[in-house]
Amino acid sequence: MGSLSGKFALVTGAGRGIGAATAEKLTAAGARVLVNDLDADVAAAVAARLDGAVAYPADLTEAAAADELVEFALSAFGSLDIVVNNAGYIWHSAIHNMTDEQWDAMLDIHASAQFRILRAYGRWLRGVADQTSPVRKVVNISSTMGLHGGATQLAYSAGKAAVVGLTKTLAKEWGRFNVTVNAVAFGAIDTRLTSPYENEPNISIVKGQPRKVGLSVGQIKQAEAASPLGRIGSVEDAANAIYLMCIPESNWITGEVLLASGGVRS
Ligand SMILES: NC(=O)c1ccc[n+]([C@@H]2O[C@H](COP(=O)([O-])OP(=O)(O)OC[C@H]3O[C@@H](n4cnc5c(N)ncnc54)[C@H](O)[C@@H]3O)[C@@H](O)[C@H]2O)c1
Repeated sequence: MGSLSGKFALVTGAGRGIGAATAEKLTAAGARVLVNDLDADVAAAVAARLDGAVAYPADLTEAAAADELVEFALSAFGSLDIVVNNAGYIWHSAIHNMTDEQWDAMLDIHASAQFRILRAYGRWLRGVADQTSPVRKVVNISSTMGLHGGATQLAYSAGKAAVVGLTKTLAKEWGRFNVTVNAVAFGAIDTRLTSPYENEPNISIVKGQPRKVGLSVGQIKQAEAASPLGRIGSVEDAANAIYLMCIPESNWITGEVLLASGGVRS
């Protein structure tokens, strides 16, 4: 029996990177996972290799997507015990170059999408859960940028800081449903968002648009040197930190921001 046997989990942005590793980790612990991603092909590929997983492609910045996603999860599984709000991406600029579209996009995916999913989840919880219910878990993904800021990352940092407020408030509101609500704030984790480049940033396509991603080789060296462990994190490191907030051993921890940064504190 795994530590999460019989649990039903939703992981957003689980088609690649941290979300995919988390879906894998939760499945290995016995949970059935709903794999959401903006990109249908990667969501389907992850779900296909995980026992009991179901894919649900959706753009979480669409107004109705959160309600539909939670409704789908409940109709597929009959319950929802773990929600990992992970979907996100970066779109950086210094403030003088930052457009309204950029600002709105970062707040939309990092703050509003999490809000809408949790609102839909809360409407269901109200009808089924109280303080005697089995403990359920929400894990919202933030970043060291949301705690400490980061040059050229104004909108992203604001979105990830909003995650902290949302987490701490819902931890207070949802104790009566026996739900723990925590955030995990990552430092640099090795995904396409931090892929190394020499001269020009790498490009990822998000919603059909090219977005600059990656860290210069110099930035990666700096990030490695800043960690007492001398490296940036792997997606397995990240998934393990999320997993800690999902297992029964963390049932007495709520409203916290777990810093998973290899010891980097700024
Ligand atoms: N990689 C890092 O160093 C790092 C550090 C701190 C925080 N984070 C956060 O971790 C989370 C995962 O990032 P990652 O590094 O694994 O990136 P990634 O690009 O590898 O994976 C993110 C996934 O989210 C999906 N996604 C993006 N917008 C979406 C939308 N509107 N609807 C549904 N899915 C959407 C993408 O398609 C992608 O598959 C993000 O919230 C990111 O901000 C990452």
